Amino acid sequence: MVGAAIGGRRWVSNKPYYVTTPIFYVNAEPHIGHLHSDVLADVLCRYQTLRTGGWTRNANGVYPPPTHAQFATGTDEHGMKVQRVAESQNVSPRALCDRVSQRFRALADEANIAYTRFIRTTDSDHAVAVASFWQSLVDRGHVYLGQHEGWYAVSDEAFYPDAQVRQVTRDGETWHESIETGQRVEWTAETNYKFRLSAFQAPLLAWLEANPRVVQPRGMYERVLSEVREGLSDLSISRPRARLHWGIPVPNDAEHTMYVWVDALINYLTAVGYTGGAPPPAWPADVHVVGKDIVRFHAIYWPALLMAAGLPLPHTVVAHAHWTVERSKMSKSRGNSVNPFEALAKYGTDTIRCFLMRAGGNLSSDADYSEAQLQEFQRKYLQGQLGNLLSRVLAPKIQARLVEHAVPDAPLAAPALVEADAALVEAIAALPARFDAHMDAFELSRALQAVFEVLALANEYVQRAAPWSPATPVDGVHRAVHLACEALRVCGVLLQAIMPDAMDRLLNALQVAPAERTFAALLGADGAWSTRAHTPVRAGATKIAPLFPRVP
Ligand code: ME8
Ligand code: MG
Repeated sequence: MVGAAIGGRRWVSNKPYYVTTPIFYVNAEPHIGHLHSDVLADVLCRYQTLRTGGWTRNANGVYPPPTHAQFATGTDEHGMKVQRVAESQNVSPRALCDRVSQRFRALADEANIAYTRFIRTTDSDHAVAVASFWQSLVDRGHVYLGQHEGWYAVSDEAFYPDAQVRQVTRDGETWHESIETGQRVEWTAETNYKFRLSAFQAPLLAWLEANPRVVQPRGMYERVLSEVREGLSDLSISRPRARLHWGIPVPNDAEHTMYVWVDALINYLTAVGYTGGAPPPAWPADVHVVGKDIVRFHAIYWPALLMAAGLPLPHTVVAHAHWTVERSKMSKSRGNSVNPFEALAKYGTDTIRCFLMRAGGNLSSDADYSEAQLQEFQRKYLQGQLGNLLSRVLAPKIQARLVEHAVPDAPLAAPALVEADAALVEAIAALPARFDAHMDAFELSRALQAVFEVLALANEYVQRAAPWSPATPVDGVHRAVHLACEALRVCGVLLQAIMPDAMDRLLNALQVAPAERTFAALLGADGAWSTRAHTPVRAGATKIAPLFPRVP
């Protein structure tokens, strides 16, 4: 079944919407970049739930309940990198994994990430899924035992051809590193199982060419396309057990351990119930959220592996840019990683979620993280625009003027609007479609910008209308409060995906019933401006705490 098309976009509604994050390596503590991937995926998942709860009408003209969404995040625990860190810390890999995985889970919980599965690659159902998947590659003739020689970067858990490696000499030391990532590589020559990736060049090209939106943003799609056009070498997919013991053994050959990326990618299948055979109901993923550093694995290796296993390919791979600190890469060795737990505790979950998406939610450009910018964002936009508008319309003095003019504690009828209201009315009415178009392109920063523009207009309107002034006629007070409430209601519904708790409090304060918090309820059924009567008089009776308290 194909649901309502919005802006010409195809919307498939007969399958649970399925979003994933990368699963994170447990070699180090989580930082703000990992949180960014989690929040982006969470926002997409929450947004879709709101939207499917609202936009899709069935044949009887009623809105069916939201499509059940699936959302997987978790930790990537096997491989050389984790094995070596455990050795260097003198702990068992298992103990290291248990400790750090728990930190990633705690982070997701602190940040209000509504995952439906937190997957660990050491989970027992994952071992079953990986073994079945491998076996189907073997059964379909895509795996062979061969000689492998080449460069391997343990930090990236990636192989690099000669042309992508350079020799570096510094301070009397010489080594080789990946040109792309700057990570040291080591030479390996060994017998490995190999995957016939080269055979998938033509099918991958056909898939990419037929689906120009399958990898986003556009620049990333083009890079993938040219990489595939240049040609693909077969991929080494196992390491000798003697070198790599921390991993899933190759079925029927205990001398080999599976390459960690093959193990890791299959997590997306395990997380929705794959155990071999037919794909689970939620498959394929609607969106794989990834960082720009791991696009090759998701947009080339993963679709090729899925084709080889005879399984459907993901609908979209969305790559986001990185957070930097003072313009340099965050890394353990530099010791400049931003601690996400501290940020959440100090500024509050919703502020951090919104800041990450507004300041860094542009797919193509890296953003520099600074606490000064975060403070400014919270003060200017969250407290100054959103919080302030709400406290203005609920101010006792203004509410008292409305009480003078109507039956206390009962809804006021919507005011008759005048010419001077038109610009704000139009901006509010146009917002859902603008927001939706940016969300559809995964440009969260722009979606948020559109919301803050409307809030700025509403604040200017209220400033001009001066409902607090005894000189303002009660009709002017009424229109100002009504339009501000409508701006807050529409913005609040849209922002639920980004700031679920604060927007719940805002919509409670405006007395917007839960059933009216969907996209369908934003505007009238015809998509036109609704003359909903809001209830500022009653809302004013409830004292609410500031939405975004000052940071001490
Ligand atoms: O690559 N800014 O795991 P990983 C924004 N286990 N996002 C960042 C970031 C930054 N500075 N640094 C990291 C792996 N990320 C594999 C993935 S998936 C089957 C296996 C985010 O712990 C970004 O999403 O190195 C990046 O792709 C991911 O964390 C890499 O995390
Ligand atoms: Mg990494």
